Amino acid sequence: MAQTRVPDQMTAVVLDSYTGVEALRVEERPVPKPGKDEVLVKVAASPINPSDLAVLQGRYGFRPTPPLVPGGEGSGTVVAVGPGLMGRYFLGKRVACLWDGQRDGVWAEYVVTSTKGGALPLDASVSLEQGAMSAINPMTASAFVEIAKKGGHKAIVLTAAASALGQMVNRLGQSEGVQIINVVRRDAQVELLKQQGAAVILNSNEPNFDQQLHDACHQYEAHLAFDAVAGPLTGQLLQALPPHSKVTVFGALSFEAAQALPDQLIFHDKAVDGFWLGPWITEKNLLQILMTWRRAQKLLSTELRSEIRAQYPFQEAKKAVEEYLSQMTGGKILLKPNP
Ligand SMILES: NC(=O)c1ccc[n+]([C@@H]2O[C@H](COP(=O)([O-])OP(=O)(O)OC[C@H]3O[C@@H](n4cnc5c(N)ncnc54)[C@H](OP(=O)(O)O)[C@@H]3O)[C@@H](O)[C@H]2O)c1
Repeated sequence: MAQTRVPDQMTAVVLDSYTGVEALRVEERPVPKPGKDEVLVKVAASPINPSDLAVLQGRYGFRPTPPLVPGGEGSGTVVAVGPGLMGRYFLGKRVACLWDGQRDGVWAEYVVTSTKGGALPLDASVSLEQGAMSAINPMTASAFVEIAKKGGHKAIVLTAAASALGQMVNRLGQSEGVQIINVVRRDAQVELLKQQGAAVILNSNEPNFDQQLHDACHQYEAHLAFDAVAGPLTGQLLQALPPHSKVTVFGALSFEAAQALPDQLIFHDKAVDGFWLGPWITEKNLLQILMTWRRAQKLLSTELRSEIRAQYPFQEAKKAVEEYLSQMTGGKILLKPNP
């Protein structure tokens, strides 16, 4: 397939310094050129995720020197390729793209990404909007249920459970026979999960939350918790779980240090560790990665679907991030090029 004509300039969202949303601006900048084993993707859509908020504050797992284009994932069409065999395979294909921190991110009209894990082909049945949200949360939800099942866990605890990811884990857990003990922070989130068929939902702001959590963990014999919040909640989870349990911290929504009482670690054989999707994926071989990806693609309109709350052009990225910061539950906000 011939390479599509690509303009010289593009609109991009740029982060000037690691000082949060105020450091975002929009500028015209040159369209990047794909190098060896890289492709150029004409971006269709990109969601705002909690990891993007962490990037804006310089608190993510990679920290390139600003100014930089943020945006952790998105979708689009491959319009040009650099040298390398894989590039030819991708030319003209609709893909999900992932930011690896080595190049600029996805909040721009064009993005260069690697053919080795940065671009993933989308099924024909997947829209570019769903495709934009098809990598990070769907693969993470799949990972959690896989980890639970491989570890022989019949029940797991999940915090920030009304999040897009939390809803996916709930639906997947229901279909795979893993009981989810949901922890949320507001009554509206209890209702939301109830409507989706979740059976065990606890509000961490209820006065007897610690006791309820303890009782639920023991009743369902949960020995594993996935914690997106950190701060004091990690310690509450650790205390509520039975002996020989683990809290896996996978998010830092509180932006606080995860707490753990030493007696829980020393005398009750409990542990705290972390989960990051990237390293979890790269531990798999290529066939396993493709199988996980294919399976997630098939479930994008059911168990692993994401709701969309609003869509903004890149020019209004700051407003979009502010709206997302004011309330994160209730669907993703997508950034898109101008119509
Ligand atoms: N480690 C990994 O590889 C990995 C991969 C994927 C996702 N994640 C993490 O998974 C989590 C969920 O992501 P998502 O995209 O599904 O999020 P999302 O849909 O944007 O929702 C975020 C949720 O977190 C809640 N929340 C925000 N701050 C909170 C706090 N301080 N305490 C308790 N709840 C809080 C929000 O509730 P309100 O509406 O009340 O604000 C909302 O329900 C994030 O922490 C994200 O970083 C990690």
